[in-house]
Amino acid sequence: MLAKVFSGGVLGVEPYPVEIEVDCGRGLPAVIVVGLPDEAVKESRDRVKSAVQNSELSFPARRMTINLAPADIKKEGVSYDLPIALGILAASGQLSGDLLSECICMGELALDGTVRPVKGVLPVALGMLKWGKNKLIVPVENIAEAGIVEGIEAYPVSSLSEAVRFVRREAEIAPVRLPFRAHRQDLRMPEDDFADVKGQQHVKRALEVAAAGGHNALLIGPPGSGKTMLARRIPSIIPDMTLAESLETTMVHSVAGLLRSDKGIVRVRPFRAPHHSISSAGLVGGGAYPMPGEASMSHNGVLFLDELPEFHRDVLEALRQPLEDKEVSIARARRTLTFPSNFMLVCSMNPCPCGYAADAKQRCRCTPAQIKRYVSKISGPLLDRIDIHVEVPSVPYRELTRGDPGENSRQIRERVNAARARQQDRLCNEQMPCNALMRSKQIKKHCVLAAEGHALLKEAHERLGVSARGHDKILKVARTIADLDGQEAILTHHLAEAIQYRTLDRQMWR
Ligand SMILES: Nc1ncnc2c1ncn2[C@@H]1O[C@H](COP(=O)(O)OP(=O)(O)O)[C@@H](O)[C@H]1O
Ligand SMILES: [Mg+2]
Ligand SMILES: [Zn+2]
Repeated sequence: MLAKVFSGGVLGVEPYPVEIEVDCGRGLPAVIVVGLPDEAVKESRDRVKSAVQNSELSFPARRMTINLAPADIKKEGVSYDLPIALGILAASGQLSGDLLSECICMGELALDGTVRPVKGVLPVALGMLKWGKNKLIVPVENIAEAGIVEGIEAYPVSSLSEAVRFVRREAEIAPVRLPFRAHRQDLRMPEDDFADVKGQQHVKRALEVAAAGGHNALLIGPPGSGKTMLARRIPSIIPDMTLAESLETTMVHSVAGLLRSDKGIVRVRPFRAPHHSISSAGLVGGGAYPMPGEASMSHNGVLFLDELPEFHRDVLEALRQPLEDKEVSIARARRTLTFPSNFMLVCSMNPCPCGYAADAKQRCRCTPAQIKRYVSKISGPLLDRIDIHVEVPSVPYRELTRGDPGENSRQIRERVNAARARQQDRLCNEQMPCNALMRSKQIKKHCVLAAEGHALLKEAHERLGVSARGHDKILKVARTIADLDGQEAILTHHLAEAIQYRTLDRQMWR
């Protein structure tokens, strides 16, 4: 007998339908899997056999051919265990196929028949309506991902026998629907607060602007000046996620197997801080079965590279594509996979190898050649893509010991959220969530200057040697500063502040 079961897979974060045909024929008992299966899929037949036997069902002693279609895509992973098991049971007459033919099934099987969580549930759940299916059988641990999707019925199962009883209509399972607000992924404020940081008002302000507009930022200062401390507090001021952003980020995390079943979908912008020993594949993604890297894991969030010059040069080079395209393309034998990677880049560095080049008290011991080599590690093109440069000087002792607490993160975050909402209203027609993503066309339209502003920019060009790319960055950052100020027009003082975030260009990199 021939049975058909439906499942889904992902290429990057793009879902595609998978059909699993099981033919139970005559001949010596054997299980043959065809259709470009990888090792995990091949091993699947042993897991399926044990799981079936341990679920008080019978594994047919027949010759079984299992075909995974489409055959030209390399299937990976373990999520086909459950549909294969159901297919074998259907092909051997142990369950009828009418309900099964309406379902997409995903799930790994443990030897005892327990259903284990799998990767990629959200993309499949979002894609399956197009395939004419609206019922999804998934591991109970993945139900939050499936339950967010409107228009489908998501049925959680915890064991093979539960799935079998459901398909046989012997037991009902209530479909789970979890709307966006039901996903309470740690919406509490992070514990690290900007109120802990004494002084450094201008750095906090620069980070507020960066967070509001999604601008990339670089912190430069001597060791111990608080760069790491400041950057680690960014999560406490970044704006709330929209549903669309949340789904995009969740898809990447789903494919990477990063979702925690107790937390549901990703509702808090990710903050990723990889160590400087990371490889290019780790940072931008790759591998035999391409997995998203940190650049994609931080999609719609923050990628923090602490001590930027410590990273390998080729790793930093690899960042150029995601910084420019907001997505990573990974070429594989037959096709190119893409992962979204629209992150806000935050970097920190010392101004020179010893760290004290710009310090008021300690003397720098580095030679000009050493400084040049150090700074040149960070290539111009990378630096060009950073909108905001901030100097982080050492805090004088008396400031450190001052008792009065500064503004807390909650207050900053309120302004950031309001500024982001203004941007979203303005840019929604262009499908853009923040100012940093504006291209020339939007900059022309939304960053109009008065005559006085033009004069100021012209002077910045002449006096500071701001490049053409720098010019656009200043306008985008000025737009964000005006948004924080609740102004539709970009005023001269907004522009002046934005220009100030480019001046390091001139001092350090020439
Ligand atoms: N402005 C500040 N207010 C309070 N503590 C600070 C400040 N700057 C530095 N510190 C203290 O110094 C420590 C070292 O700062 P850190 O962020 O590691 O410096 P950097 O990364 O610039 O080398 C911090 O953990 C913190 O305890
Ligand atoms: Mg540090
Ligand atoms: Zn030095």
